[in-house]
Amino acid sequence: MTPMDVPAPLPASRKNVSPARHSPHRRHLIPAASRCVVIALFMLTSVAAFAARPPAAAIASAHPLATRAGLDILAAGGNAFDAAIAVSAALAVVEPTSSGMGGGGFWLLQRASDNTQVMIDGRERAPLAAHRDLYLDARGNVIPRLSLDGPLAAGIPGQAAALDHLAHHYGRLPLAQNLAPAIRLARDGFVIDSRYQGMARWRLKALQQSPAAAAIFLQDNDVPTQDFVLRQPDLANTLQALADQGAKGFYTGPVAKQLVDGVRRAGGIWTLRDLADYKVIERQPIRGHYHGLTITSASPPSSGGIALLTMLNILSTYDLHKLDSASRKHLIVEAMRRAYRDRAEYLGDPDYVTIPVSRLTNPDYGAGLAASIRLDRATPSRMLPGGAEPEGGNDTTHFSIIDRNGNRVAATLSVNYPFGSGFVAPGTGVLLNDEMDDFSSKPGVANAYGLVGDQANAVAPGKRPLSSMSPTFVEDDNRVAILGTPGGSRIITMVLLGILDIDDGKPPSSWVALPRYHHQFLPDRISYEADALSEAETKALEQRGHTLKLHRKKYGNMQAVLWDIRNNTVSTASDPRGNGLAEVRQD
Ligand code: DON
Repeated sequence: MTPMDVPAPLPASRKNVSPARHSPHRRHLIPAASRCVVIALFMLTSVAAFAARPPAAAIASAHPLATRAGLDILAAGGNAFDAAIAVSAALAVVEPTSSGMGGGGFWLLQRASDNTQVMIDGRERAPLAAHRDLYLDARGNVIPRLSLDGPLAAGIPGQAAALDHLAHHYGRLPLAQNLAPAIRLARDGFVIDSRYQGMARWRLKALQQSPAAAAIFLQDNDVPTQDFVLRQPDLANTLQALADQGAKGFYTGPVAKQLVDGVRRAGGIWTLRDLADYKVIERQPIRGHYHGLTITSASPPSSGGIALLTMLNILSTYDLHKLDSASRKHLIVEAMRRAYRDRAEYLGDPDYVTIPVSRLTNPDYGAGLAASIRLDRATPSRMLPGGAEPEGGNDTTHFSIIDRNGNRVAATLSVNYPFGSGFVAPGTGVLLNDEMDDFSSKPGVANAYGLVGDQANAVAPGKRPLSSMSPTFVEDDNRVAILGTPGGSRIITMVLLGILDIDDGKPPSSWVALPRYHHQFLPDRISYEADALSEAETKALEQRGHTLKLHRKKYGNMQAVLWDIRNNTVSTASDPRGNGLAEVRQD
């Protein structure tokens, strides 16, 4: 574990004392003897919840073939972690727009046998030859698209190392068995869907620039037709090398050599040492409380967990249900604004910068931020100490899993842009990410998602770029929720709206379908899906001084699982905006 300024692990059943409800006078209302009884009872219920097992397993992912790959592994005796390997690898094959062996991600785990919660950080790292000004011209201006298209945009991938790590430390089945469904899908091929076509159209230029990528992902150098069968024999071989030799099969030997040769010939800066040095890091997740719910989410280098807790701490100082809907949305937006401001200033790779995690996630800090909010006025972002409309849609991918023993996985994986950098190193079948764009190429200059950053997230050799990916668990003694979504900078606010819906007692089908709205400090406006704000709410928000922008495209692709402990049911849902499959398995 990396030493970090994060709260110590707690039992998942720990109860919240929300600042709004906490009263110093109440603390002693229960006499000492009765307190012991209450504590004993509480421990009993916690133990009961802890000992309970879900009546079924469930997997929700963004592609039916990936969900089925995971279900098959569960049926073969694998646990949730084995299934996570199978789903991740299958997604790398069948959803190349979103994640892959050339990318990385965060796998948030809960192991039922000892209640361990851990985040596997398989995030990409900057190559060792990278430096702060990598994407700037001689005058110090950002060179457009250099961090988005082609091999210079690619960080050193983490997914292969993460899958090997999962198999060795958490799975029950051999890595090769868990990779087998993906290898089959890569060799035999599958028919692409309309989403693939849309993304290929959007990234056509970048894909055309890489002959190896065009030969695999395009048809006659153009967007493939609807019945196109995507076969990836090179990727099957690369996955086979991983299956046979573990991480070494990817990070050293012939695959590594092909990756480095291909990257360097096309103008990239990777070296064999970059690959050989890559390591996943086990990190303690971020944990906090909201209205009696325990929230566990991604820690840095993701901004997700910290930003979620900042927002929830601000919101817990109000009773949202006592407010009219426009005021409620105004407050939520003001909480978003403040959390994203802090994101821009403080957050980056915790191995390179010191992040004041305890402060940012402390309820008192949230209360301080809440005190700066006016109920009747928007706070202009420029008034807080301290772009462009983000395009984030539904590339990147999330899946959620629970098995019959109560092991859980929430994983958000990415190659960043649709089809990543668009670059494939010849012979590998591995489509490289363009995660380097998640760094702040220059302080104050917005990245592809309109996010600004500062020194904390500047490029440096070996550093991990700041992410918004937020795989999350939400739980109390009665329920366990597993959720997450793609969506670039909007990921965190989508998960926030999901948590508020969970707090309202709604089922997964509601969290994934919720109409969404978002604010990220800069640009200073609320962007919203058509049905997220009524006409009256729009008016009321404008009267408070908010600028509104309708986001015409639907965004996000949330995948969610709920284990309702009290009613002994498991349910799951896949975002209606995507083509995913969520399935409960009783056997
Ligand atoms: O790590 C991040 O925050 C981004 N690379 C995620 C990109 C993403 O979600 C794109 N999807 N719309």
